[in-house]
Amino acid sequence: MTTTVRTRVAIIGAGPAGLMLSHLLAAAGIESVVIDQRTRDDIESTIRAGILEQGTVELLDAIGPASRARTVGHRHDGIELRFEGEGHRIDFAESVGRAVWLYPQHEVLKDLIAARLAAGQDLRFGVTADGVDDGDRPRVHAHDADGVALEIEADFVVGSDGSRSVARAAVSGARNGSFREYPFAWFGILCEAPPSSEELIYSNSPDGFALVSQRSATVQRMYFQCDPDSDTAAFSEEQLWDELQKRVPGTTLKQGPIFQRDVLRFRSFVAHDLRRGRIALVGDAAHTVPPTGAKGMNLAIADVRLLASALKALLLDGDERLLDAYPETASRRIWKAQHFSWWMTSMLHAAPDATDFDRRRQLGELRSVVESEHGRAYLAEAYCGWPLDA
Ligand code: DHB
Repeated sequence: MTTTVRTRVAIIGAGPAGLMLSHLLAAAGIESVVIDQRTRDDIESTIRAGILEQGTVELLDAIGPASRARTVGHRHDGIELRFEGEGHRIDFAESVGRAVWLYPQHEVLKDLIAARLAAGQDLRFGVTADGVDDGDRPRVHAHDADGVALEIEADFVVGSDGSRSVARAAVSGARNGSFREYPFAWFGILCEAPPSSEELIYSNSPDGFALVSQRSATVQRMYFQCDPDSDTAAFSEEQLWDELQKRVPGTTLKQGPIFQRDVLRFRSFVAHDLRRGRIALVGDAAHTVPPTGAKGMNLAIADVRLLASALKALLLDGDERLLDAYPETASRRIWKAQHFSWWMTSMLHAAPDATDFDRRRQLGELRSVVESEHGRAYLAEAYCGWPLDA
């Protein structure tokens, strides 16, 4: 037996992009159905990056719960770049008059899920999409945890279903996308300890990159560059602290029990096609960035902001122009963010095959950023996020 549901917009994936889109559509009176194969608990407990651009926070403010990003999260007015054992502050406030907020993605998801459910959103967990058919009334074929088939027939289908997107096949077909791999990854830890630094430290060292981030007064998040095939269980706590500490010379890290470890693989990817007929892709379904600079979720929110306007014009006024422009308009920001994420990555990490020349050139690059007001301003502007309306 197959259950068929009819709606205006079928959204595959209840990550930040899918949930935010359902909110923006609802605010315009457009009904949607959101499905996700994961359980609510899975979605709300998956550890991801923690930096929100100013524009992302402003958009979250509009839904109400977002004020938690400001009250529970922390505003950061700068970061430190460290190399050759010395720290150099990039002052966002001074350079561009903007800021970022440290507020973990799973907290954003908890806020969005609670707000959507409170507003009566049709949001279904444990429902897996199997494929999408294009047409005037595109369809999502799905099944629930008991194997019961579900079809969603809509005016429009949005794939916000992450890097292993099912919707992408219906948009890009066999054409894949542009991608790049990196010969390193991040080893991430969460530990119980007080902060080692008030602001984030991005450290380039001869032993490789490390990032000192935070979560709260009692929980810290840190990363160090590792081999992509590293086994999280292969390190003792003492070895992990040694690896981190030697890459942040000049700061004595405050240590504490490590209660979570993960390896984040690096990949840059942009799908060749972001829209086909009445199906479009947003967020990780459309592109992936390496984690350096924390652009992933912010870029997803920027896509959604554009697509929401395009869908409003299409579904309320029958005007397709914004939708036709969506791939091109979204791509401009996507490729700026691709460049920024690649640039931060390449400037801060030790490539396994780096020569003496490469290493010295990299230090020259870092110096030309921190010693120039224009260099600092480029970094600050990209890190805090380009204006959403541009
Ligand atoms: C975090 C992750 C990032 O990729 C980054 O650039 C900064 C912070 C984090 O998880 O805290």
